[in-house]
Amino acid sequence: MSYPLLHTLFCFLLLLPFSTVAQTNGTVDVGASITAGDNSSTPWLSASQDFAFGFKKLQDNNLFLLSIWYYKIPDRTIVWYANEGVPVSAGSKVGITAGKGLVLSDPQGRELWSSTPIRNLVAHGFMNDTGNFELVDGGSVNVWESFKDPTDTLLPTQIMESRGVLFSRQSEKNFSRGRFQLRLLGDGNLVLNTRDLDTNFAYDAYYWSDTYDGVNVTNRGYQVIFNETGYIFVLKRSNQRVVLGPTTVLPSGDNYYRATLDFDGVLTLYYHPKTENANPKTWTALWFEPDNICVGIIASQGRGACGFNSICTIDDYKRPNCSCPERFSLLDPNDKYGDCKSSFTPSCEEDDHKSSNGDLYDLSVLIDTDWPLSDSAQLKPYSEEMCRNACLQDCFCAVAILRVLANFRVVPPTSVLVPTKTVPYRAVPDQNGACDVLCRSVLVPCPPGPFDTSRQEADAGDFLPFYSLF
Ligand SMILES: *[C@@H]1O[C@H](CO)[C@@H](O)[C@H](O)[C@H]1NC(C)=O
Ligand SMILES: *[C@@H]1O[C@H](CO)[C@@H](O)[C@H](O)[C@H]1NC(C)=O
Ligand SMILES: *[C@@H]1O[C@H](CO)[C@@H](O)[C@H](O)[C@H]1NC(C)=O
Ligand SMILES: *[C@@H]1O[C@H](CO)[C@@H](O)[C@H](O)[C@H]1NC(C)=O
Ligand SMILES: *[C@@H]1O[C@H](CO)[C@@H](O)[C@H](O)[C@H]1NC(C)=O
Ligand SMILES: *[C@@H]1O[C@H](CO)[C@@H](O)[C@H](O)[C@H]1NC(C)=O
Ligand SMILES: *[C@@H]1O[C@H](CO)[C@@H](O)[C@H](O)[C@H]1NC(C)=O
Repeated sequence: MSYPLLHTLFCFLLLLPFSTVAQTNGTVDVGASITAGDNSSTPWLSASQDFAFGFKKLQDNNLFLLSIWYYKIPDRTIVWYANEGVPVSAGSKVGITAGKGLVLSDPQGRELWSSTPIRNLVAHGFMNDTGNFELVDGGSVNVWESFKDPTDTLLPTQIMESRGVLFSRQSEKNFSRGRFQLRLLGDGNLVLNTRDLDTNFAYDAYYWSDTYDGVNVTNRGYQVIFNETGYIFVLKRSNQRVVLGPTTVLPSGDNYYRATLDFDGVLTLYYHPKTENANPKTWTALWFEPDNICVGIIASQGRGACGFNSICTIDDYKRPNCSCPERFSLLDPNDKYGDCKSSFTPSCEEDDHKSSNGDLYDLSVLIDTDWPLSDSAQLKPYSEEMCRNACLQDCFCAVAILRVLANFRVVPPTSVLVPTKTVPYRAVPDQNGACDVLCRSVLVPCPPGPFDTSRQEADAGDFLPFYSLF
């Protein structure tokens, strides 16, 4: 075989995967439809084939998510989803109608979701190379677009208007709405907060852009713009830009960008090289907020980054790592970000039958761990021994925290403390320590979960504001 022929054959083989997909200019006609689980039913691609719209199979079960994803890269990352992230079974269908736009129906033909409200009759759909799925009327005006109905991700050229919201997912593979939100508030501030899953009540923010102005409307943020170069900024009515991040970006022509409110509550700007032979072949974080979500969520209500009674440690990738203290275990073994339950029930009645509380309970020690904003008593000056006894003699004491207040500096532990038994306890041994006895009520769990502060010690600059809260 001569070299040119071999070369031609090689090129042909390379092109083969693409030639099996119909050429497209991104336009989808009214009346077109896709059926979940039907191999002959292909997704609607953008002209560049960077993005696809259709049903994406989830894991091994026979469930499909109506979504938009990156079509060319191996992990085919999902950037938008319909139906509040609830997947549908095989045989479900999505189609475009003139009156309702996109309509998702189950195998029996019952409507599950539609792209309402739309402002005019739809002439056609269009999968834009930006990742925006658009419904266009006869006058070429967009009557609906996925960019204006975002889920957990923003893409370059996407704009979030005042009062816009992103919801995190429940978990990496469960796309139902989770408990973290990114919101552009009416006062101009872009905030990250947790929320109550049943009532949607928003708890205190754990990140804010500082672009609000209670009085001067001109000075308020009103749009969050993710521009095509990869910068995210809040635009004020005065036209001033407050760039959130990052300070430098890579060439946008060579990389995909996405900003996702991850299921663990961290807002992350990622990039991924477009070409196959570039490295790395995965999404890399370029910027994220907050810097340490374990310490970032200090709220008097709601959970922290981890569940109730769960200890949050920030890992090497600045992600929360949740773990239950000794003698505690996960309430839901499949949800490591969930609550921890104790394997014992502290009871005052039980104590009444004993002459000494010390017989029933002991304290286990967690170094560099705190449990903020739930103090039921503050006792100082107290030695470690006094702090320990105060907790052991109080049948309502769930946690006692020993903290060194001098100069707001934590003195590194000098000795290992106490064998483990029942009640978690934190101590930094120092004679000048103050003792807080926390969470006296055994009926109410302690919000938010305690967190590891050891990473903070490395950075004194970050450390001070946190401790000055006390
Ligand atoms: C896309 O192709 C369709 C035919 O498949 C054509 O009707 C339409 O005008 C084209 N749109 C653009 C923007 O080129
Ligand atoms: C569709 O394709 C997948 C893998 O290519 C295969 O496992 C499955 O059986 C096919 N389904 C149908 C209905 O042909
Ligand atoms: C695709 O998106 C770009 C950027 O927002 C926009 O300029 C363009 O008009 C869109 N294309 C169509 C055909 O709507
Ligand atoms: C996702 O999580 C929600 C809430 O926990 C649950 O109701 C739903 O069944 C889960 N969805 C899937 C597909 O597992
Ligand atoms: C309101 O804010 C704008 C932009 O920062 C500023 O130019 C203007 O002077 C402010 N107006 C008042 C009344 O403070
Ligand atoms: C995107 O925003 C950054 C920061 O304001 C700016 O430097 C850059 O020129 C913008 N890119 C485009 C294409 O407007
Ligand atoms: C998470 O924390 C647990 C318990 O402290 C530890 O064993 C584990 O190695 C940590 N995992 C990561 C990824 O940091």
